[in-house]
Amino acid sequence: MFAEVIPMSQQFQRPSGRGARSAGRPVSLSADPLRFASAYHAPVLAAEVVDGLVTDRAGLYIDGTLGGGGHSAALLDVLAPSGHVIGIDQDGEALVASEERLVDDAQAGRFRTLRGNFADMEDLLADANVEAVDGILLDLGISSHQIDEASRGFAFSADGPLDMRMDAMSGDSGGETAAELIARLDVQSIADLLRTYGEEPRAWSIANAIVEHGAFATTGELAEVVRSAVPAKVEVKTLARVFQAFRIAVNDEMGVLERSLEAALNLLRPGGRLAVISYHSLEDRRAKHFLRFGNLQGEAKKDFYGNLLTPWNLLTRKPIMATPEEIHANPRARSARLRISEKKPEPQSS
Ligand SMILES: C[S@@+](CC[C@H](N)C(=O)[O-])C[C@H]1O[C@@H](n2cnc3c(N)ncnc32)[C@H](O)[C@@H]1O
Repeated sequence: MFAEVIPMSQQFQRPSGRGARSAGRPVSLSADPLRFASAYHAPVLAAEVVDGLVTDRAGLYIDGTLGGGGHSAALLDVLAPSGHVIGIDQDGEALVASEERLVDDAQAGRFRTLRGNFADMEDLLADANVEAVDGILLDLGISSHQIDEASRGFAFSADGPLDMRMDAMSGDSGGETAAELIARLDVQSIADLLRTYGEEPRAWSIANAIVEHGAFATTGELAEVVRSAVPAKVEVKTLARVFQAFRIAVNDEMGVLERSLEAALNLLRPGGRLAVISYHSLEDRRAKHFLRFGNLQGEAKKDFYGNLLTPWNLLTRKPIMATPEEIHANPRARSARLRISEKKPEPQSS
């Protein structure tokens, strides 16, 4: 599936040009993979993100998935006093946690937050008078805090309301909860959803058990019904896939990712970089296609001479993955795949 990791020294040999200002020497952080971890969340691949994303220490960087502010903290750590980070999250709890953590940087005018969906980042940033940026990070999925909070309804290991909306804490979420979604769907639609978003091989039996059960109120109820439909030895993996599938559907994660990749390309200055960390193959496939070909279908469009027509210089031929040391320290890093591309200069008009 996901293969070889290219050594960092080979991945980020920068071309000369504007972005090369800081690239002569690596911006590497300390080797401790948990250096930027907090009780809220441990950011994965923090050193690799900073190494790959920062081309100008005085630049402006967008952390599109702020969470507990771990990646923002890592970026601020290597940026010059004149460098800036704007963190976006749709979860109000993430904004509060990061603002508390990075209060000194906020007071120094180097860090600020924006609440909203990263798919809307062009509008969010336009409202903040930002037209172009040097780098954008998307660390997809949910934070450890969101999983740990039973009341958010993401976890199969804790009982809470069957919600799963990432923006549930912002007070103005108009979205459907997982319980409402399940109540609305028929057995065929649930099976399709589990197959598409969870790659679940027992989708049909689980969908039948769900529909037979009727309405759900809690994560515990859903977990119990799923358990009853599969052999005990595959219970945990199945629960992870089923909960992932409903979470992706509730938050339209694939549609949001597609819109945000396009938005990121529009916002980056030429020479600016986009880094995407994905945790499952559906996300990774989209990131891989877009960061190589500039389209979501993975279509290689070529000019008359056979040259690939793409807005990107792909910096990671294969995804970057966590070291065994990082996986040992933070098991969540096991499935993380980091891909980075640099936006090409605009073609010269003659
Ligand atoms: C994996 S966590 C990021 C953790 C972060 N990198 C850190 O170091 O703490 C993903 C975060 O992105 C947020 N998120 C997910 N989808 C989002 C979206 N469409 N728009 C805005 N925020 C989103 C989640 O609420 C969560 O806080």
